[in-house]
Amino acid sequence: MTFVVGEDCIKCKHTDCVEVCPVDCFYEGPNFLVIHPDECIDCALCEPECPVDAIFSEDELPEDQQVFLELNAELAEIWPNITEMKESPPDAEEWAGKPNKLALLER
Ligand code: SF4
Ligand code: F3S
Repeated sequence: MTFVVGEDCIKCKHTDCVEVCPVDCFYEGPNFLVIHPDECIDCALCEPECPVDAIFSEDELPEDQQVFLELNAELAEIWPNITEMKESPPDAEEWAGKPNKLALLER
């Protein structure tokens, strides 16, 4: 089991989640974060911290976001580790809850 960052994080990237992770298993891309599935210990601490509810446990990941399971695993191998919270993008609020953001994911 792992926790998974889903579509709502794209272009929001608040990073509150990284502050609470006891094993520092978040990795950062230009406009999205991912969780390394082999490092996540399923503590569930990060899930309630996300202001846009972008984090799910693997078994609660919505059907239309299943692609994010593989995306988290793939990108966590490529992107750098992030362990401290940073400022959200200036337009993060405008992107909260917007649908179809997958196409906007930058690698
Ligand atoms: Fe980190 Fe726990 Fe969230 Fe996994 S569930 S990413 S270990 S805070
Ligand atoms: Fe993304 Fe939410 Fe973390 S927007 S960076 S999953 S706090």
